[in-house]
Amino acid sequence: MRVEPASQGVPPSGTGAAIAHPNIALIKYWGKVDGELNIPANSSLSLTLDVAPTRTEVTLDPQLDGDVAELNGEQLQGTPMRRIAAFLDLIRRRTGSEVPAQVRTTNEIPTGAGLASSAAGFAALAVAGSVAYGLDLAPRDLSRLARRGSGSASRSIFGGLVKWNRGTDDGSSYAEPIDAPELDLQLLVVLSHREPKAISSRDAMNRTAQTSPYYRAWVESTEVQLGELEAAITAADIGSIGEIVESNALRMHASMLGARPPIRYWTSTTLMVLDRIQQLRAEGLDVFATMDAGPNVKLLVRGAHVPEVLRALGELLGGTEVLASGFGPGAASVDRA
Ligand code: PMV
Repeated sequence: MRVEPASQGVPPSGTGAAIAHPNIALIKYWGKVDGELNIPANSSLSLTLDVAPTRTEVTLDPQLDGDVAELNGEQLQGTPMRRIAAFLDLIRRRTGSEVPAQVRTTNEIPTGAGLASSAAGFAALAVAGSVAYGLDLAPRDLSRLARRGSGSASRSIFGGLVKWNRGTDDGSSYAEPIDAPELDLQLLVVLSHREPKAISSRDAMNRTAQTSPYYRAWVESTEVQLGELEAAITAADIGSIGEIVESNALRMHASMLGARPPIRYWTSTTLMVLDRIQQLRAEGLDVFATMDAGPNVKLLVRGAHVPEVLRALGELLGGTEVLASGFGPGAASVDRA
């Protein structure tokens, strides 16, 4: 199940293109000890998806006054544009280049809806930008670079199950794939909400860390749950894996409810899905929930139980789209279209 990213031995070409997939955390990252370097308070563990890829092209252009970027054909402005330009600055600083770039990104997943679009986005930008500016980085260093754009992007550099070691500084905070036995698991993303969230994960995790009395408990118990999950993965114990994953997500959301002002991403639809999952579990299905910075529920499901879970979701939510994902690959550079 170990999936290695493509090697990055590409000469400075002035252009680069890459594809990366979203990842969904099974043990969450929520809060940082260093906001500038994105050093997290706790280590996390995720599954890279094999659906909803982001494709990014970076083209250096000395004629430009500054960086420009478009997402699905629309020009980016404001904070999203500033984050991309700041990220390209990191690459330029290492190469000595001052040339601005044009960035073109396409993705199929709604942006900013708690569906890990920024993880895939900054992982793809790290790879494509490095190729374009001629920065030859090992996978671990690509992960460290991607982390600077969005913490969770450090994990989308790799495929399969990935652990982000929190580390203590820029050099020691990186993700790496973990060895795992074959696991008969699928991840279903219930796309019940497509609109951008009211509060970004960045702001929400900062507010939680600063104001929630439950935050310390979240960090401490998450380190414990990470060890438990690794043991359950090694044992290929799907019931324990699911129970730990669901508990960790609920604890993250509990820490947010304790913030001031409180943060609640869930809607009545979120709760409806959670209720149905509990019933399905009582009926003997291995199905477990996880939720990120948004109202959409993601389900970890034993492969053999996927058809029945999809049927139940169809009855509950009508035409709501559900993405079914297996274990996906790491970010890789690709030829330009
Ligand atoms: O990397 P960010 O800033 O988008 O934060 C991600 C936060 C969660 O998705 C809620 C958890 C995680 O580990 O991905």
